[in-house]
Amino acid sequence: MSFSDSISLVTGGAGFIGSHIVDKLLETGAEVNVIDNLSNGNLSNLENANNSSKFNFNQANLDDSVLKKN
Ligand SMILES: NC(=O)c1ccc[n+]([C@@H]2O[C@H](COP(=O)([O-])OP(=O)(O)OC[C@H]3O[C@@H](n4cnc5c(N)ncnc54)[C@H](O)[C@@H]3O)[C@@H](O)[C@H]2O)c1
Repeated sequence: MSFSDSISLVTGGAGFIGSHIVDKLLETGAEVNVIDNLSNGNLSNLENANNSSKFNFNQANLDDSVLKKN
């Protein structure tokens, strides 16, 4: 399956499960955006992803202020 024209968002992407999802999405060609507050995740889980120009990391807490519509 190709996601080459897709833009994805992985919440908790620096965690155990999330980082594997990130790597798989990048393998399919998707642009991958991660939001993680690093409360339990680690940037070392994203070392491979960091080499991709299609990867963006945002350190933020997923709370109501992030999800609230303007
Ligand atoms: N080698 C292994 O087999 C191994 C290693 C690690 C974990 N595990 C297992 O994996 C499971 C946990 O994996 P997981 O990926 O669900 O958990 P995780 O804690 O690894 O990932 C959750 C991610 O969400 C982030 N996060 C949490 N609250 C947030 C918030 N409010 N806003 C933004 N980011 C937030 C954390 O920083 C973390 O990166 C457990 O069952 C654990 O035992 C197995």
